[in-house]
Amino acid sequence: MTSPKGAEPVEQSFRDAMRRLAGTVSIVTVANNGERHGTTATAVTSLSMNPPSILVCFNRDSRLHAMLSAADHFCVNLLHTDNVDVSKLFSSPVTSAERFAGGRWACGEGEAPYLEDALSSIQCAKDQQIDYGSHTIFIGRVLSARNREEISPLAYCNGNYVRTAALPKRRG
Ligand SMILES: Cc1cc2nc3c(=O)[nH]c(=O)nc-3n(C[C@H](O)[C@H](O)[C@H](O)COP(=O)(O)O)c2cc1C
Repeated sequence: MTSPKGAEPVEQSFRDAMRRLAGTVSIVTVANNGERHGTTATAVTSLSMNPPSILVCFNRDSRLHAMLSAADHFCVNLLHTDNVDVSKLFSSPVTSAERFAGGRWACGEGEAPYLEDALSSIQCAKDQQIDYGSHTIFIGRVLSARNREEISPLAYCNGNYVRTAALPKRRG
């Protein structure tokens, strides 16, 4: 165990702590003036049910940040364990067109692109954005959600893609 009072700088111990934070992997997409983009993210959190809302956090240096800052809508595609290759593609340094060449993508009228075999695709209207340090928090009001029957989330932990598994239920 690492001592909290050790000589380690907080950035290092925090980075190590975040390797222990398992999170479902998403691809956040936007469409703006005929252009579309999408980026892999784990900084995605359910915000409230009243109103139904979700937040996503992006580095200000990312291309998604620039597109999302200018957009009215975005889509959070929660990934299924089947989608690991698409996740890798959407976090790699390639063009938007090269990213969307992987996976089956569709887009309804006035929507952002959604991945047809995602675990869930959550269409949002962008409500607020809050700058904090190197990142911006984008808050989306949920307009609709498409859900895949089988619940098998793609998670990321300690630098690896992982799957979740239910623990045995305790008796009594
Ligand atoms: C599993 C995983 C989760 C990530 N989560 C985030 C995130 O929540 N926010 C973020 O800004 N970048 C995140 N990234 C990094 C971006 O996906 C990566 O920097 C990407 O190349 C940025 O693309 P863009 O500049 O086209 O938007 C994550 C990468 C991986 C592999």
